Amino acid sequence: MSLLEQLLKKKEKLAVVGLGYVGMPLAVAFSKKLDVIGYDSDEHKVELCNKGIDPTREAGDVAIRNAPMIFSSDESILKKARFIIVTVPTPINPDHTPDLIPIEEASRAVGRNLQNGAIVVYESTVYPGVTEDICVPLLEHESGMKCGKDFKIGYSPERTNPGDKIHRLDTIIKIVSGMDEESLDIVAHVYELVALAGVHRVSCIKVAEAAKVIENSQRDINIAFMNELSIIFHKMEIDTREVLEAAGTKWNFLNFQPGLVGGHCVGVDPYYLTTKAAQLGYHSRVILSGRSINDNMGRYVAENIVKGLIKNGKRVKDAQVAILGFTFKENCQDIRNTKVMDIVKELWEYGVKVLLVDDVADIREAKRLYEVDIVSLRDMKKSDAIAVCVQHQIFRNLSVDWFNHYYKDEHKILFDIKGIYKKEQFLTAGYFYWRL
Ligand SMILES: NC(=O)c1ccc[n+]([C@@H]2O[C@H](COP(=O)([O-])OP(=O)(O)OC[C@H]3O[C@@H](n4cnc5c(N)ncnc54)[C@H](O)[C@@H]3O)[C@@H](O)[C@H]2O)c1
Repeated sequence: MSLLEQLLKKKEKLAVVGLGYVGMPLAVAFSKKLDVIGYDSDEHKVELCNKGIDPTREAGDVAIRNAPMIFSSDESILKKARFIIVTVPTPINPDHTPDLIPIEEASRAVGRNLQNGAIVVYESTVYPGVTEDICVPLLEHESGMKCGKDFKIGYSPERTNPGDKIHRLDTIIKIVSGMDEESLDIVAHVYELVALAGVHRVSCIKVAEAAKVIENSQRDINIAFMNELSIIFHKMEIDTREVLEAAGTKWNFLNFQPGLVGGHCVGVDPYYLTTKAAQLGYHSRVILSGRSINDNMGRYVAENIVKGLIKNGKRVKDAQVAILGFTFKENCQDIRNTKVMDIVKELWEYGVKVLLVDDVADIREAKRLYEVDIVSLRDMKKSDAIAVCVQHQIFRNLSVDWFNHYYKDEHKILFDIKGIYKKEQFLTAGYFYWRL
């Protein structure tokens, strides 16, 4: 009986290592078809899962409660699995080099508990070569087994978009790879159980690793171009959104918008590629230029908020700016590497007081990581200026009338960073209006 059949007949189990934004929905999806183990080294997270609380809010508490899964923070549980998927974080160090510690630690834990005949598939975003050159030696060392003979490996990048209700595991095509025909076939069939839009097979693991890392690099570069245009057009006193709308009428003009690029994917993954390229003697110009522009957008926005205060006769020191939205992207609680924090820090340097408002953000994590307090929209206070930095649905619904209530005086200053409101409405209402 093949491993696929054994999984389907529940004679073997599938394990997901790392129950985060990627791993949790994946584990829940597989649990509808297979026996699934969810392993995470974070005991608190596992405790929550066992109480039926989804710490990521991606799958939802009900789905977790209904999922016939075992959650554990004891790595020996992995001994019970023959198909193991690794979805641990791949962040960067302060110097922008890849921080491979989580994926290395996860590989060691999997190796220590690896069964003969198992398949280990990595989903974490990495540069080409990490799976075979870094993870496999650790798996072999810890297990005492030989890759290709005693166990096999694969790589299948994750493309889901937390907070996005349309592009989800079951609606997007999944790239799959294996170390040989046999492993590719099993990996493809296993993912076909949950990736209902289908799988795209590639010839080797490095191609799959590279495909993922360039998807995010391409997005980063395109947004950087838009951000650069926005900086140029502000100097020319031209509205960037209007320019993009006009240019967008051409059939092959790409639809990107300026904005803050944060989080742990688009703003991070390009550094994986450029670091590896540098090790091979090629120093990126295009990718790193884009990164540098995007990394500086928070400061650029903050400078423009300060200029807006001054233009409206406000005293900058001790002015209060309400910032709506703290997460790194819309409709998602994740605040890791949010570029809104760059705006906040820069404003603090000018002596500006910041009121952070976000009903979606994980406020406990925000406190832990950045030592900031976030309030609900219900607790919004009158301010000197308001900057809407994240296009959460809850903010999109706000009207000119709503904003009118939250200014200290007749100077109504609005920074609509993502351009989500109708500019004309605010100009007609006498606002100072600014957008990227
Ligand atoms: N979140 C996204 O939007 C997204 C999309 C596509 C790809 N990715 C990639 O997927 C990977 C996971 O991202 P995420 O957002 O789910 O991360 P996450 O931080 O939300 O979750 C990772 C989980 O792994 C656990 N973990 C860390 N080290 C571990 C170890 N040694 N053993 C067991 N568990 C461990 C953490 O406790 C955490 O629960 C990353 O490589 C990321 O780049 C993320």
